Amino acid sequence: MRVAIVGATGAVGKELIKVLEARDFPVDELRLFASPRSAGKTVNFQGRPHTVEVTPEGPIPTDVVLASAGGSVSKKLAPLWSSEGAVVIDNSSAWRYDPEVPLVIPEINPDAARAHKGIIANPNCTTAILAVALWPLHKAFRATNVVVSTYQATSGAGAEGMQELLDETRNYLEGRPVGHKVFQHPIAFNVIPHIDAFQDNGYTREEMKVVWETRKIFDEPEMKISCTAVRIPTLRAHSEAATVLFERPVTPEAARAVLEEAPGVEVVDEPAENRYPMPLSATGKWDVEVGRIRQNLAFDNALDFFVSGDQLLKGAALNAVQIAELLL
Ligand code: A2P
Repeated sequence: MRVAIVGATGAVGKELIKVLEARDFPVDELRLFASPRSAGKTVNFQGRPHTVEVTPEGPIPTDVVLASAGGSVSKKLAPLWSSEGAVVIDNSSAWRYDPEVPLVIPEINPDAARAHKGIIANPNCTTAILAVALWPLHKAFRATNVVVSTYQATSGAGAEGMQELLDETRNYLEGRPVGHKVFQHPIAFNVIPHIDAFQDNGYTREEMKVVWETRKIFDEPEMKISCTAVRIPTLRAHSEAATVLFERPVTPEAARAVLEEAPGVEVVDEPAENRYPMPLSATGKWDVEVGRIRQNLAFDNALDFFVSGDQLLKGAALNAVQIAELLL
Protein backbone atom coordinates (compact mmCIF):
# COMPACT_ATOMS: atom_id res chain seq x y z
CA MET A 1 0.00 0.00 0.00
CA ARG A 2 1.11 3.55 -0.69
CA VAL A 3 0.81 5.68 2.44
CA ALA A 4 1.07 9.42 3.07
CA ILE A 5 1.27 11.15 6.44
CA VAL A 6 0.14 14.77 6.66
CA GLY A 7 1.47 16.43 9.82
CA ALA A 8 4.40 14.00 9.84
CA THR A 9 6.56 16.22 12.06
CA GLY A 10 3.95 16.61 14.84
CA ALA A 11 3.41 14.63 18.03
CA VAL A 12 0.88 12.28 16.39
CA GLY A 13 2.71 12.21 13.03
CA LYS A 14 5.87 10.88 14.67
CA GLU A 15 3.83 8.16 16.41
CA LEU A 16 2.16 7.25 13.11
CA ILE A 17 5.58 6.53 11.61
CA LYS A 18 6.55 4.35 14.61
CA VAL A 19 3.23 2.49 14.65
CA LEU A 20 3.41 1.70 10.91
CA GLU A 21 6.87 0.22 11.54
CA ALA A 22 5.93 -1.63 14.74
CA ARG A 23 2.83 -3.24 13.19
CA ASP A 24 4.67 -4.19 9.98
CA PHE A 25 2.09 -2.33 7.95
CA PRO A 26 2.77 -3.23 4.29
CA VAL A 27 4.08 0.15 3.11
CA ASP A 28 5.27 0.15 -0.51
CA GLU A 29 5.81 3.89 -0.61
CA LEU A 30 5.70 6.48 2.18
CA ARG A 31 5.35 10.21 1.61
CA LEU A 32 5.62 12.69 4.45
CA PHE A 33 3.97 16.11 4.47
CA ALA A 34 3.95 19.04 6.91
CA SER A 35 3.92 22.83 6.80
CA PRO A 36 6.48 24.76 4.69
CA ARG A 37 8.49 25.22 7.92
CA SER A 38 9.49 21.54 7.82
CA ALA A 39 9.92 21.05 4.07
CA GLY A 40 13.26 19.45 3.25
CA LYS A 41 13.79 17.88 6.69
CA THR A 42 14.39 14.14 6.63
CA VAL A 43 12.77 11.49 8.80
CA ASN A 44 13.83 7.84 8.95
CA PHE A 45 11.37 5.09 8.13
CA GLN A 46 12.51 1.46 8.03
CA GLY A 47 16.10 2.67 8.19
CA ARG A 48 15.84 4.95 5.16
CA PRO A 49 15.61 8.76 5.17
CA HIS A 50 12.39 10.26 3.78
CA THR A 51 12.18 13.95 2.89
CA VAL A 52 9.31 16.01 4.30
CA GLU A 53 7.32 17.81 1.59
CA VAL A 54 4.93 20.77 1.68
CA THR A 55 1.33 19.57 2.12
CA PRO A 56 -0.42 19.79 -1.26
CA GLU A 57 -3.62 21.74 -1.81
CA GLY A 58 -4.83 19.08 -4.23
CA PRO A 59 -5.04 15.30 -4.73
CA ILE A 60 -2.39 13.11 -3.07
CA PRO A 61 -1.44 10.22 -5.38
CA THR A 62 -1.44 7.48 -2.75
CA ASP A 63 -3.77 4.86 -1.26
CA VAL A 64 -4.10 6.05 2.35
CA VAL A 65 -3.54 9.50 3.83
CA LEU A 66 -3.06 9.52 7.59
CA ALA A 67 -3.78 13.15 8.49
CA SER A 68 -2.91 14.89 11.73
CA ALA A 69 -2.27 18.55 10.93
CA GLY A 70 -5.22 20.15 12.73
CA GLY A 71 -8.90 20.72 12.02
CA SER A 72 -8.73 23.74 9.75
CA VAL A 73 -6.18 22.10 7.42
CA SER A 74 -8.27 18.90 7.21
CA LYS A 75 -11.57 20.72 6.80
CA LYS A 76 -10.24 22.56 3.77
CA LEU A 77 -7.96 19.97 2.20
CA ALA A 78 -9.14 16.41 3.04
CA PRO A 79 -11.72 16.35 0.20
CA LEU A 80 -8.99 17.49 -2.20
CA TRP A 81 -6.43 14.94 -0.95
CA SER A 82 -8.98 12.14 -1.52
CA SER A 83 -10.30 13.45 -4.84
CA GLU A 84 -8.32 10.96 -6.93
CA GLY A 85 -9.06 7.85 -4.88
CA ALA A 86 -6.95 8.07 -1.73
CA VAL A 87 -8.75 7.34 1.55
CA VAL A 88 -8.08 10.00 4.19
CA ILE A 89 -8.04 8.79 7.80
CA ASP A 90 -8.37 12.08 9.60
CA ASN A 91 -7.30 12.59 13.18
CA SER A 92 -8.84 16.05 13.59
CA SER A 93 -12.38 16.87 14.69
CA ALA A 94 -13.20 18.43 11.29
CA TRP A 95 -15.23 15.51 9.88
CA ARG A 96 -16.28 13.47 12.92
CA TYR A 97 -19.85 14.75 13.13
CA ASP A 98 -20.56 14.67 9.38
CA PRO A 99 -23.26 11.99 8.88
CA GLU A 100 -21.55 10.95 5.61
CA VAL A 101 -18.22 10.28 7.38
CA PRO A 102 -17.74 7.10 9.43
CA LEU A 103 -16.20 7.56 12.88
CA VAL A 104 -14.39 4.33 13.64
CA ILE A 105 -12.80 2.39 16.49
CA PRO A 106 -11.89 -0.98 14.95
CA GLU A 107 -12.64 -2.92 18.17
CA ILE A 108 -16.17 -1.46 18.16
CA ASN A 109 -17.58 -0.57 14.73
CA PRO A 110 -15.20 -1.86 12.04
CA ASP A 111 -18.06 -2.35 9.59
CA ALA A 112 -18.85 1.37 9.62
CA ALA A 113 -15.56 2.02 7.81
CA ARG A 114 -16.88 0.34 4.64
CA ALA A 115 -19.41 3.12 4.04
CA HIS A 116 -16.71 5.76 3.58
CA LYS A 117 -16.79 8.20 0.68
CA GLY A 118 -13.08 9.06 0.83
CA ILE A 119 -12.78 10.25 4.44
CA ILE A 120 -12.86 8.21 7.67
CA ALA A 121 -12.67 10.08 10.97
CA ASN A 122 -10.51 8.99 13.89
CA PRO A 123 -12.16 9.78 17.24
CA ASN A 124 -11.06 12.20 19.90
CA CYS A 125 -8.41 10.67 22.15
CA THR A 126 -10.48 10.87 25.35
CA THR A 127 -13.44 9.24 23.62
CA ALA A 128 -11.36 6.41 22.17
CA ILE A 129 -9.72 5.54 25.50
CA LEU A 130 -13.06 5.40 27.35
CA ALA A 131 -14.93 3.68 24.51
CA VAL A 132 -12.71 0.58 24.22
CA ALA A 133 -13.42 -0.19 27.88
CA LEU A 134 -17.06 0.91 27.91
CA TRP A 135 -18.14 -0.95 24.76
CA PRO A 136 -17.68 -4.54 26.05
CA LEU A 137 -19.49 -3.59 29.26
CA HIS A 138 -22.27 -1.96 27.25
CA LYS A 139 -22.64 -5.07 25.10
CA ALA A 140 -22.81 -7.33 28.16
CA PHE A 141 -24.87 -5.24 30.59
CA ARG A 142 -26.32 -2.31 28.57
CA ALA A 143 -25.06 1.02 29.85
CA THR A 144 -27.80 3.63 30.26
CA ASN A 145 -26.01 6.54 32.00
CA VAL A 146 -22.32 7.43 31.93
CA VAL A 147 -20.57 10.10 34.02
CA VAL A 148 -16.88 10.58 33.31
CA SER A 149 -14.18 12.89 34.66
CA THR A 150 -10.91 13.07 32.76
CA TYR A 151 -7.28 13.62 33.73
CA GLN A 152 -5.69 14.63 30.42
CA ALA A 153 -2.01 14.89 29.62
CA THR A 154 -0.36 17.85 27.91
CA SER A 155 0.33 15.64 24.85
CA GLY A 156 -3.33 16.24 23.98
CA ALA A 157 -2.26 19.76 22.98
CA GLY A 158 0.50 18.45 20.69
CA ALA A 159 4.26 18.64 20.99
CA GLU A 160 4.00 22.31 22.03
CA GLY A 161 1.81 21.41 25.00
CA MET A 162 4.35 18.89 26.29
CA GLN A 163 7.16 21.43 25.87
CA GLU A 164 5.18 24.07 27.79
CA LEU A 165 4.82 21.70 30.76
CA LEU A 166 8.59 21.06 30.80
CA ASP A 167 9.55 24.73 30.35
CA GLU A 168 7.09 26.10 32.91
CA THR A 169 7.98 23.43 35.48
CA ARG A 170 11.64 24.43 35.09
CA ASN A 171 10.73 28.13 35.42
CA TYR A 172 8.75 27.39 38.58
CA LEU A 173 11.50 25.30 40.19
CA GLU A 174 14.21 27.81 39.33
CA GLY A 175 12.23 30.76 40.71
CA ARG A 176 11.55 32.45 37.38
CA PRO A 177 8.15 33.91 36.41
CA VAL A 178 5.75 31.22 35.22
CA GLY A 179 3.73 31.85 32.07
CA HIS A 180 1.49 30.08 29.62
CA LYS A 181 0.80 30.10 25.88
CA VAL A 182 -0.74 26.79 24.84
CA PHE A 183 -2.91 26.44 27.97
CA GLN A 184 -5.27 29.04 29.45
CA HIS A 185 -3.34 29.10 32.76
CA PRO A 186 0.06 27.92 33.99
CA ILE A 187 -0.02 24.11 33.78
CA ALA A 188 2.91 23.28 36.12
CA PHE A 189 1.63 22.30 39.59
CA ASN A 190 -1.95 23.05 38.52
CA VAL A 191 -5.05 21.35 37.11
CA ILE A 192 -7.20 23.19 34.56
CA PRO A 193 -10.88 22.21 34.08
CA HIS A 194 -10.97 23.78 30.64
CA ILE A 195 -10.07 21.94 27.40
CA ASP A 196 -11.27 23.42 24.10
CA ALA A 197 -13.94 26.14 23.87
CA PHE A 198 -16.90 26.60 26.21
CA GLN A 199 -20.28 25.88 24.61
CA ASP A 200 -23.68 27.49 25.31
CA ASN A 201 -24.64 24.61 27.64
CA GLY A 202 -21.73 25.28 30.01
CA TYR A 203 -19.73 22.26 28.85
CA THR A 204 -16.50 22.54 26.87
CA ARG A 205 -16.24 21.22 23.34
CA GLU A 206 -13.83 18.52 24.56
CA GLU A 207 -16.52 17.33 26.99
CA MET A 208 -19.19 17.36 24.29
CA LYS A 209 -16.88 15.42 21.94
CA VAL A 210 -17.05 12.51 24.39
CA VAL A 211 -20.86 12.71 24.33
CA TRP A 212 -21.32 13.13 20.56
CA GLU A 213 -18.63 10.68 19.50
CA THR A 214 -19.48 7.87 21.92
CA ARG A 215 -23.10 8.02 20.75
CA LYS A 216 -22.05 7.91 17.09
CA ILE A 217 -19.50 5.09 17.47
CA PHE A 218 -21.86 2.97 19.62
CA ASP A 219 -24.81 3.86 17.34
CA GLU A 220 -26.70 4.84 20.51
CA PRO A 221 -27.94 8.36 19.73
CA GLU A 222 -29.88 8.64 23.01
CA MET A 223 -27.20 7.37 25.43
CA LYS A 224 -26.99 9.67 28.48
CA ILE A 225 -23.38 10.79 28.93
CA SER A 226 -21.88 13.67 30.89
CA CYS A 227 -18.19 14.61 31.06
CA THR A 228 -15.85 16.93 32.95
CA ALA A 229 -12.55 17.28 31.07
CA VAL A 230 -9.49 18.37 33.05
CA ARG A 231 -5.92 19.05 31.92
CA ILE A 232 -3.27 17.83 34.38
CA PRO A 233 0.51 18.34 34.43
CA THR A 234 1.52 14.97 32.97
CA LEU A 235 3.35 14.51 29.69
CA ARG A 236 1.49 11.69 28.04
CA ALA A 237 -1.46 9.27 28.43
CA HIS A 238 -4.95 10.30 29.52
CA SER A 239 -6.83 8.85 32.48
CA GLU A 240 -10.56 8.89 33.15
CA ALA A 241 -12.79 7.99 36.10
CA ALA A 242 -16.13 6.63 34.94
CA THR A 243 -19.41 5.91 36.72
CA VAL A 244 -21.78 3.82 34.63
CA LEU A 245 -25.37 2.75 35.34
CA PHE A 246 -26.50 -0.48 33.66
CA GLU A 247 -29.84 -1.96 32.66
CA ARG A 248 -28.90 -5.62 33.21
CA PRO A 249 -27.61 -6.82 36.60
CA VAL A 250 -23.87 -6.23 36.93
CA THR A 251 -21.15 -7.01 39.48
CA PRO A 252 -17.49 -5.97 39.53
CA GLU A 253 -16.53 -9.65 39.08
CA ALA A 254 -18.74 -10.06 36.02
CA ALA A 255 -17.43 -6.79 34.56
CA ARG A 256 -13.84 -7.86 35.17
CA ALA A 257 -14.49 -11.18 33.42
CA VAL A 258 -15.92 -9.34 30.38
CA LEU A 259 -13.00 -6.89 30.26
CA GLU A 260 -10.42 -9.72 30.53
CA GLU A 261 -11.70 -11.01 27.17
CA ALA A 262 -12.09 -7.61 25.47
CA PRO A 263 -9.74 -6.59 22.64
CA GLY A 264 -7.68 -3.46 23.21
CA VAL A 265 -8.06 -3.66 26.99
CA GLU A 266 -5.67 -4.75 29.74
CA VAL A 267 -7.20 -5.27 33.16
CA VAL A 268 -4.82 -3.81 35.76
CA ASP A 269 -6.81 -4.22 38.94
CA GLU A 270 -4.92 -5.61 41.93
CA PRO A 271 -5.35 -2.97 44.65
CA ALA A 272 -3.61 -5.14 47.24
CA GLU A 273 -0.47 -5.03 45.07
CA ASN A 274 -0.88 -1.29 44.34
CA ARG A 275 -1.63 -2.17 40.72
CA TYR A 276 -4.13 0.05 38.91
CA PRO A 277 -4.13 2.09 35.70
CA MET A 278 -1.74 5.05 35.62
CA PRO A 279 -0.41 7.33 32.87
CA LEU A 280 3.18 6.21 33.45
CA SER A 281 2.35 2.53 33.01
CA ALA A 282 -0.08 3.14 30.13
CA THR A 283 2.43 5.23 28.15
CA GLY A 284 3.70 3.37 25.09
CA LYS A 285 1.10 0.58 25.40
CA TRP A 286 -1.32 -0.33 22.65
CA ASP A 287 -3.93 -1.54 25.14
CA VAL A 288 -5.91 0.73 27.43
CA GLU A 289 -5.46 -0.09 31.12
CA VAL A 290 -8.68 -0.60 33.13
CA GLY A 291 -8.89 -1.06 36.87
CA ARG A 292 -10.37 0.14 40.19
CA ILE A 293 -13.49 -1.74 39.08
CA ARG A 294 -16.01 -1.55 41.92
CA GLN A 295 -19.68 -1.25 42.79
CA ASN A 296 -20.76 2.39 42.86
CA LEU A 297 -22.14 3.33 46.28
CA ALA A 298 -24.43 6.17 45.16
CA PHE A 299 -26.50 4.45 42.44
CA ASP A 300 -28.11 1.03 42.10
CA ASN A 301 -26.62 -1.40 39.58
CA ALA A 302 -23.73 0.89 38.74
CA LEU A 303 -19.98 0.48 38.49
CA ASP A 304 -17.03 2.78 38.94
CA PHE A 305 -13.78 2.18 37.07
CA PHE A 306 -10.61 4.00 36.06
CA VAL A 307 -8.88 3.88 32.67
CA SER A 308 -5.48 5.09 31.45
CA GLY A 309 -4.54 5.00 27.80
CA ASP A 310 -1.80 6.42 25.62
CA GLN A 311 -3.37 9.47 24.02
CA LEU A 312 -0.92 9.39 21.12
CA LEU A 313 -1.47 5.65 20.46
CA LYS A 314 -5.02 4.29 21.03
CA GLY A 315 -6.13 7.91 21.28
CA ALA A 316 -4.64 8.79 17.89
CA ALA A 317 -1.91 7.05 15.83
CA LEU A 318 -2.63 3.42 16.70
CA ASN A 319 -6.36 3.74 16.06
CA ALA A 320 -5.65 5.44 12.71
CA VAL A 321 -3.29 2.64 11.62
CA GLN A 322 -5.84 0.03 12.79
CA ILE A 323 -8.41 1.74 10.55
CA ALA A 324 -5.91 1.57 7.67
CA GLU A 325 -5.51 -2.17 8.40
CA LEU A 326 -9.28 -2.55 7.90
CA LEU A 327 -8.82 -1.15 4.39
CA LEU A 328 -6.12 -3.66 3.43
P1 A2P B 1 5.24 21.66 11.11
O1 A2P B 1 6.04 20.80 12.04
O2 A2P B 1 5.93 21.91 9.82
O3 A2P B 1 4.66 22.88 11.76
P2 A2P B 1 1.39 19.04 16.63
O4 A2P B 1 -0.02 18.52 16.75
O5 A2P B 1 2.38 18.23 17.38
O6 A2P B 1 1.47 20.49 16.91
O7 A2P B 1 1.78 18.85 15.05
C1 A2P B 1 1.08 19.47 13.99
C2 A2P B 1 1.55 18.90 12.65
O8 A2P B 1 0.78 19.53 11.61
C3 A2P B 1 3.00 19.22 12.32
O9 A2P B 1 3.52 18.18 11.53
C4 A2P B 1 2.87 20.51 11.53
O10 A2P B 1 3.96 20.75 10.65
C5 A2P B 1 1.65 20.23 10.72
N1 A2P B 1 1.00 21.45 10.24
C6 A2P B 1 0.64 22.53 10.95
N2 A2P B 1 0.06 23.46 10.17
C7 A2P B 1 0.05 22.96 8.91
C8 A2P B 1 -0.40 23.43 7.64
N3 A2P B 1 -1.00 24.61 7.49
N4 A2P B 1 -0.25 22.63 6.55
C9 A2P B 1 0.32 21.40 6.70
N5 A2P B 1 0.79 20.90 7.86
C10 A2P B 1 0.65 21.67 8.96
